[in-house]
Amino acid sequence: MLLMNKAIPHIIKFPKIGDNTLGYITKAENSELPFQIKRVYWTYHTPKDVIRGHHSHKQLQQIIIATSGTIIIEIENILGYKQEFILDSPDIALYIPPNHWRKIKFYENTVLLCLASEEYDEKDYIRDYTEFKKLDE
Ligand code: TYD
Repeated sequence: MLLMNKAIPHIIKFPKIGDNTLGYITKAENSELPFQIKRVYWTYHTPKDVIRGHHSHKQLQQIIIATSGTIIIEIENILGYKQEFILDSPDIALYIPPNHWRKIKFYENTVLLCLASEEYDEKDYIRDYTEFKKLDE
């Protein structure tokens, strides 16, 4: 199991297979993850310095990887505690539990890969920051 604590966002370091003569493979298998993958999506051709996200999820768990380029993810929990994570290598991932507000800044030529615990469901999103802040009440 690559992950220790499902309650808090944190960096996961995936093993690298290979060497610098041929390059590397990194893989994700359900048996090593904290959830069963039900969906994979990728975000690309996002212009430099664009910030995506601005939402939280009620149930969804995610593992996010910058397979190319760099993203900076700001995560806020329901108590208002903020953390910033830099993903700049294809063997590094960020685990995001439910109920965390995220802002994701893209650098040039970045591809964001997401392993998700659920299929897409718009009802799982909280897109209104005021509504998110009410989760603490
Ligand atoms: P969203 O999750 O808000 O993307 P981001 O956080 O990167 O800004 O999704 C953007 C749009 O794409 C939104 O209209 C929902 C749609 N979408 C799907 O239809 N299916 C999916 O699996 C995902 C991730 C998004």
